[in-house]
Amino acid sequence: MFKNSSVSRRRLLYFGASGLAGAIAVAVAKDRLPMYPSQALDNLTRDFKVAGQTPLKGRATAKGLIYGAASGQDFLASDKKLQASIVRECGILVPENELKWQFLRPRPDVYDFSRSDWLAQFARTHKMLFRGHTLVWYQQLPEWFKEVVNRQNAEKFLVEHITTVTKRYAGQMHSWDVVNEAIEPDDRQKAGLRKSPWLEFLGPDYIELAYRVAAQADPKAMLVYNENALEYSGRKEEVKRTAVLKLLERLKSRGTPIHALGIQSHLVAQEAALNAKKLRSFLSDVASLGLKILITELDVSDQKLPSDPAVRDRIVAGVYEDYLSVVLDEKAVIAVLNWGLSDRHTWLSTFTPRSDGAPVRPLPLDSSFKPKLAWNAMARAFDQARKR
Ligand code: G3I
Repeated sequence: MFKNSSVSRRRLLYFGASGLAGAIAVAVAKDRLPMYPSQALDNLTRDFKVAGQTPLKGRATAKGLIYGAASGQDFLASDKKLQASIVRECGILVPENELKWQFLRPRPDVYDFSRSDWLAQFARTHKMLFRGHTLVWYQQLPEWFKEVVNRQNAEKFLVEHITTVTKRYAGQMHSWDVVNEAIEPDDRQKAGLRKSPWLEFLGPDYIELAYRVAAQADPKAMLVYNENALEYSGRKEEVKRTAVLKLLERLKSRGTPIHALGIQSHLVAQEAALNAKKLRSFLSDVASLGLKILITELDVSDQKLPSDPAVRDRIVAGVYEDYLSVVLDEKAVIAVLNWGLSDRHTWLSTFTPRSDGAPVRPLPLDSSFKPKLAWNAMARAFDQARKR
């Protein structure tokens, strides 16, 4: 079973007799997986001890932070265990899909708020904050959109949509992702903007227009620009961080009512390691614009990890704790939301399934809603964070 390697012996010594099984899993996993970056293996022996049973929302609140998660109305309305877990762990709720055009706009002249209203009511009933995602995006537009919306009427559709939706929840919203994922340098557009119907029909100023209309409709809501793929230190992420910073600077210089950056944080275990220095410096640059920062869609994909759940959970937990310790060091970071709370309901099951068919394990609770080491890692990160 064991290669006669010093690492395996060390791990055995570290675990002692009681942890022998874990050490075997670790050593076997290590022997099978020469391609790991070193820090992932260290996660296999890290201690994720947590003091007490306080739920994540309590640990976040103690530091002036907000913790919560996304959920789909279909899952939440039908899954009592999910309801209990969301109420126990979360201080804020965001609809996973129910506030997107695809769900709100069955026809050009018809809005269907039934599912988003249910989620807003659930949050109110359980004294949770509520945030909106997302008013302007290039994805999940309704089927009729491409037939109906054009250069002549796009502004009317954009202004009317934002006004109608934002006004409906005015005063109830902690924050809105007004514009989502507007930067894509690979699209080779001016200022690194992403190709989208909005850019095509209205030009770059659609972004500023969206924030001004949202601010008029709900002056109380924090207005957020939400973006993905900002976290790692690859060339593509570096270029994207620079383009996002320039967009935020431009919007602020024009007095646009924008208050925060949302960093989605869809992390991938065994991806290129995080460069803490580069990430931390980007957060400081955003904060220096007077903007707050929200971690809006946090999960850690284990798609590329070995099949052993014990090994996957340890590495995923290490990614959670390492990432959050960097981002929470920036006091402008005010909220952390997971994109789902339990492995039973995660977009990753569909979008990035594992080649071995094993259920993915990206979130703090397992599919039976029991806390995993990722929950410990998040609890530890909140406990170690500086008070806001
Ligand atoms: O509701 C329909 C259902 O009626 C139909 O039978 C079924 C099969 O086609 O589709 C269902 O809609 C799906 C919807 O999720 C609800 O489950 C859409 O096809 C599917 O595309 C949609 O995926 C969502 C995805 O955004 C769309 O890009 C994921 O649930 C959602 O988690 C994901 O969330 C995004 C954020 O909004 C932005 N950041 C990235 C994040 C992950 O992609």
